[in-house]
Amino acid sequence: MKKLIGLLTSGGDSPGLNAAIRGIGKAVLGRYGMEVIGFRDGFRGLMENRAQALDSSSFSGILTVGGTILGTSRDKPYAMPVGGKMMDMTDVIIDNYRKHHLDVLVCLGGGGTQKNAYHLMQQGLNVITLPKTIDNDVVLTDATFGFDTALGIATEAIDRLHSTAHSHHRVIILELMGHKAGWLALGAGIAGGADVILIPEIPYAVDKVAEAILGRSRSGHGFSIVAIAEGALSKETATAAGDSKKADKKKKERKQAPPADGESDDISTGHSLRLAQQLEALTGLESRVTILGYLQRGGIPSAGDRLLATRLGTACANFINQDRYGIMVAARGDGVEAVPLEQVVGKRKTVPLDHGWIETARSVNTCLGD
Ligand code: F6P
Repeated sequence: MKKLIGLLTSGGDSPGLNAAIRGIGKAVLGRYGMEVIGFRDGFRGLMENRAQALDSSSFSGILTVGGTILGTSRDKPYAMPVGGKMMDMTDVIIDNYRKHHLDVLVCLGGGGTQKNAYHLMQQGLNVITLPKTIDNDVVLTDATFGFDTALGIATEAIDRLHSTAHSHHRVIILELMGHKAGWLALGAGIAGGADVILIPEIPYAVDKVAEAILGRSRSGHGFSIVAIAEGALSKETATAAGDSKKADKKKKERKQAPPADGESDDISTGHSLRLAQQLEALTGLESRVTILGYLQRGGIPSAGDRLLATRLGTACANFINQDRYGIMVAARGDGVEAVPLEQVVGKRKTVPLDHGWIETARSVNTCLGD
């Protein structure tokens, strides 16, 4: 009996998704003679049974294409908006998996996708995941595909902002994605030579940032570039957030509520604008904001992401051939590793404070806001 593989992409789109789909598809079809179907728009498509047959022509010409040919959504099997209500659609998903007689469901996504796939694994389905996200925040893999492309785009943005900042003697704040991790802002900030880099892992003091900018002015540099991660927090906000988390926890304990399903996914917006106003007041320099947004996720994947996605995709086919399920296909050095999903879920890889990139940034006199 030929094995039948179900494929879906879930969470935010990311460069390299199609390269990974192609890697899996070409290897399972060409190397192992298996069959593949895709489900549209992540777990929602699996729930609504929107399946799409995939053959060798489906995997041609997609290596360099951004986005995902399967479409995506952020819907979770156990909390899906249906008819205006949040519903647990796990049973419907299991039914559809069984109706198609799938041997395995391959889920390509970030932290949330790992968790959703693990949930289905606990219900008895065979699942394998691949780590995809521009945030690079999935644990137990050296890298996630999408990150390298986003890093290149963010670095180019810093390069381009330099001319305006320099010509107009301005402070330009560039807000970058990354969710609650600082990999993207820190990496691009170093690569682009940002003067200040603010990341969620290091709460910043506005006066320290202003001091660094004024120091540059005094030494003849009348402009500064600030790379700020969307999840970065000022010291005051971090303390207030910590206090309110503690209060929430106490409230929940009093009510004996069930444990929260992971952390809140909210990222506060608008803090870059507030920071610009504060810096303008403290330095007397015109301060402007650029929010790079979805440009970081769009378009052609970098060579590095194509290579990583193809390595992980083809390795995924090998694991399927060996009936190894319940795993995430992780990058480790030049090779790959099968990491049990239970070791991945509910965790986030943030930048360790002793990470080499932090030391590197400090060594070139970059202000990290502390
Ligand atoms: O996780 C990838 C990511 O691009 C984050 O960097 C960002 O916080 C989030 O997705 C944006 O999500 P959405 O696509 O729902 O706006």
